[in-house]
Order: sequence, then C-alpha cells, then structure tokens
Amino acid sequence: MSIPNGRFITFEGGEGSGKTTQVQRLADRLRLKGSEVVLTREPGGSPGAEAIRHLLLSGIVKPLGPEAEAMMFAAARDDHVTHVIRPALERGAWVICDRFIDSTRVYQGALGNVDQRLIRALERLVVGDTMPVLTIILDVPPEIGLARAYGRNAGADRFEAEHFEYHQLLRTAYRDLAVQEPERCVLVDASASADALAVRIWMMVSERLLRPRQPIPAPRARA
Ligand SMILES: Nc1ncnc2c1ncn2[C@@H]1O[C@H](COP(=O)(O)OP(=O)(O)OP(=O)(O)O)[C@@H](O)[C@H]1O
Ligand SMILES: [Mg+2]
Repeated sequence: MSIPNGRFITFEGGEGSGKTTQVQRLADRLRLKGSEVVLTREPGGSPGAEAIRHLLLSGIVKPLGPEAEAMMFAAARDDHVTHVIRPALERGAWVICDRFIDSTRVYQGALGNVDQRLIRALERLVVGDTMPVLTIILDVPPEIGLARAYGRNAGADRFEAEHFEYHQLLRTAYRDLAVQEPERCVLVDASASADALAVRIWMMVSERLLRPRQPIPAPRARA
C-alpha cells in the first residue's frame, strides 16, 4: 500500500529553537480544520522506543560508543515508525514529529563523527519510503536558543566556550542539511516570536500541502 507521505512533517533545530512549541501550534491549527493529527517525538514516540529513550538519556549506552548509540537510536526509530508513524499515515492522519532522522544525521553524524554511510544505511533500513515530505528547521543563534531553553534573559555568558561552540557547530550542520535537501528541508528564522513563527509555518504548510494542485491546462487548438 502506498503511504501518503504528504502528511508527514518533522521539526528540527537546536536546543530551545522552539520545536516543541511549534509542533503543538501546527497540530492545534490542523485539528481546528478537523484533521486527525498524530503529534509525536524522538527519541521515543512509541512504548518500545520510549523504553529505549530512557536507556539513551540515562547515559548507559554512551560508554558503548557512538556507533552503538546510533544503532540504539535506529532500534527506537524502527519501533516508532512501525507502530505509530506508518499506521497513522496509512489511515490518512497527519503526523508531526518533534525531531527525526535529521537529528541523527546532525548529532551522531556531523557532531558525533559516526560514519554517514552507517547512518544512511540504518535510515534506509528503518525509514525506507516513510520520509517526511516537509522538514522545518528552526534556525536561531545558540545564545538565543540556550537562553530560551534555560529560561534566562542574558546571552550565553554563563556557558563555557566549548559548550557554546558545540551549539554553533550544530547550527551549521542543520544549515548545511537545508542546503543539501532544499526540496524537503526549509530553514526558518526562529528568532521571531512564537506567534509570528506559527503564522509563517502555517502559511508554508498550507501553501505546500493543502492547496489543491492546479490542473495542467490542455494545449490550445491552433486556429
Ligand atoms: N519564538 C519564541 N520566542 C521566545 N520564546 C520562545 C519561542 N518559542 C519557544 N519559546 C520558549 O522557549 C523555551 C523553549 O521552547 P521549546 O521547548 O519549544 O524549544 P525546543 O526546540 O523544543 O527545545 P528543546 O530542544 O530543549 O526540546 C520555552 O520556554 C518556550 O516557551
Ligand atoms: Mg522540545
């Protein structure tokens, strides 16, 4: 059965960029229109994947090395895609996911130095054709994102340089992704207010995924 991937949207971006806020706003908007929306997140999103999430976030997996960690993320994603995302898309629901494959590409790949060939192979195995049709990358300077995430007003002065540099690299890796896959990934300046961002994202989603396709006009007969 072919799956309507047109309804699969993911949100990506650094810490405090506003992902969780905006997935909720978009879900609310779509639900107001009467659509079924499955709002989910990674790592986790299904009972099996949530169990693995605890392992990943507890630090138990870290000593096993970045490759083992990437495989654990893939195992969690496999459960999530199989038991939540694919069934929802098959019944025609919208699926909005807070972080997905691009987080793995960026955190484990670009920053964790896991070979991109391993990452792409796991992705093919686990995700296959169930690719998001639209990935919104919320782009914000780390000093703003970190201040939001930690509820501070000041900039990143309390963070050590290394910490800050990591978030700069993260931002660059996300920006590179948007350049590599412009059809799927849209970089959105997330320094605006949550309300302004929600409006922008709604316009983008309606424009790309809600507008009926224009029929191709038949060629005119020559006089
Ligand atoms: N556009 C915005 N402007 C100012 N504050 C915002 C904006 N969007 C979200 N916030 C606030 O910033 C904090 C972080 O937002 P949110 O949790 O949505 O980010 P996130 O990208 O999901 O973060 P994380 O990566 O930590 O999960 C929250 O307190 C939220 O209310
Ligand atoms: Mg969040």
